Amino acid sequence: MINIALPKGRLGEKVYQRLASAGYASKDILSDTRKLVFTSDDGSVSYFWVKPSDVAIYVEKGAADIGVVGKDILLEYKPDVYEILDLDMGKCKMAVAAKNGYVDDKSSTLKVATKFINIAKDYYEKQNRQIELIKLHGSIELAPILGMSDVIVDIVETGKTLKENDLSVIADICYISTRLIANKASYKFKKDEVDTIKERLK
Ligand code: PRP
Repeated sequence: MINIALPKGRLGEKVYQRLASAGYASKDILSDTRKLVFTSDDGSVSYFWVKPSDVAIYVEKGAADIGVVGKDILLEYKPDVYEILDLDMGKCKMAVAAKNGYVDDKSSTLKVATKFINIAKDYYEKQNRQIELIKLHGSIELAPILGMSDVIVDIVETGKTLKENDLSVIADICYISTRLIANKASYKFKKDEVDTIKERLK
């Protein structure tokens, strides 16, 4: 049996639909229940719903053989897993944004608010730019509005959140999408089963 960690929420449900169409349906999974573990009707896979940012931990530790995670999480936490397929879903970008009309004073330390501390650090290190990081856990857009930071490093999907808050992108960092990841030992010892799921998902 292959254990699959799915991210709780809309994206995870879409990924489950794709797995169901690929032959791994589980009739109970979308029912209104607090259950966290489900077996596919054919008995070949077991699904767990986990917090999206925890998927990579379950896979790295081997509690799940495979999982579904955003590239943002892979770049931020660099888990020791194999990235085996771009699912071409959850497409967005990581970007730097600031208040409309913001002018950067390159001689001063830049205050950067973000959830993605390591992505921001890597990006500004490459630019040789001195920064002060402010770690937030959500509603990052508030930081420049309230004058707490000069810029934010965050995910931009439709751009609606920035637009409605008079902010705009000043630089793109990278492309983000949903990836299928595999535990390294599972990919060695259960390679055929994992590859079958990967090929059917393609
Ligand atoms: C993400 C991101 C932006 C928003 C971008 O937030 O942090 O706030 O989506 O989407 P848009 O470009 O389509 O407007 P999320 O919904 O994950 O909530 P958060 O405030 O907890 O980060």
